[in-house]
Amino acid sequence: MLAPVTLEAMVDTLKAAAESSRLRILALLARGDLTVSDLTDILNQSQPRVSRHLKLLLEAGLIGRYQEGSWAFFRLSDNEGARDFVSGLVAGLSAGDGQIERDLERLSAVKRKRQERAAAYFSANAASWDRIRSLHVPDNAVETAATAIASMFTAVTLGQPLDVDGTKQAGRQIADRITQHGLSEWLTTVRRHHEGTYQHCLLVTGVAIDFGLSLGVRPADLERLYTAAMFHDIGKAQTPLTILDKPGRLDPEERAMIETHPAAGYDFLRNHDKITPEILDAVRHHHEYLDGSGYPDALCAENISDIVRILTISDIFAALIEHRHYKPTMPRNEAYNILCGMNGKLEKVLVSSFKQVALTR
Ligand SMILES: [Fe+2]
Ligand SMILES: [Fe+2]
Repeated sequence: MLAPVTLEAMVDTLKAAAESSRLRILALLARGDLTVSDLTDILNQSQPRVSRHLKLLLEAGLIGRYQEGSWAFFRLSDNEGARDFVSGLVAGLSAGDGQIERDLERLSAVKRKRQERAAAYFSANAASWDRIRSLHVPDNAVETAATAIASMFTAVTLGQPLDVDGTKQAGRQIADRITQHGLSEWLTTVRRHHEGTYQHCLLVTGVAIDFGLSLGVRPADLERLYTAAMFHDIGKAQTPLTILDKPGRLDPEERAMIETHPAAGYDFLRNHDKITPEILDAVRHHHEYLDGSGYPDALCAENISDIVRILTISDIFAALIEHRHYKPTMPRNEAYNILCGMNGKLEKVLVSSFKQVALTR
């Protein structure tokens, strides 16, 4: 709940939200950050009108605004009480409502357009990748990696060839960056600037790299690890964003749809000559558990490789600590405790070794 306020302040907050366009804006922002022009596209209203709605929501403390380059983005408020209040409102809205349904379809289109723009940037620059890489200061490792991931997902969506070398190079840059600046700095930067599946892939790759470094793996193994991490969720390119970005619980059908992503990723990468069998294995099996309760093949311990075991731990941890606008970020120690409680599913020795990565690095 919001921190207790006066009767008058409460009425003002309720009034700010109690209007159909503004409720639609809140429902959209609950699924990710948007610019004014995204919102004018989706709501099909003039910019001054949308700006006015945003101003009222800002004044009521229900949303926040931040600048990224030349773009002003809007997001749900960072205040936990305000976020819970908005989540409650949004959760009460039926997804079957015609207007909301149309808004979410347009939101998916806006997000697709963004992915395509990122991919266009990527392919325009791929030829001079090395030069760009040498010009980029280490801080841009995040943007380079995000662009590589965006390009990978767009390639799947549009049926275009995959740039395996570019993706690996981005992984190498993350490894360099983490070696220099540590894991915590990477986690903070990624969570501040990225959302959804890209954020997740960036976090998993960072966590897996740091886990590998802490275990003292050889450089060749570190490369296998970050390549597997960069590609692990590529099958999600075929999952609708309305499911991937859905706040709260998934229904059984949605869950079943999500659970197709390891096999979908495997099928997509299978005929790619630059993808080795062990990367394929990691993509297909990163949701398997040692006790046979995972998917898609219900493998048991003896069939789950070391690289998959490391990746699975990194994947779960990253998913727990990611930043979503509809839920507070879980503290790292809490996430580690959850891993410790997954008896029989994860390798105990590895989970113990992961402790310093999870808590201190
Ligand atoms: Fe996954
Ligand atoms: Fe994942």
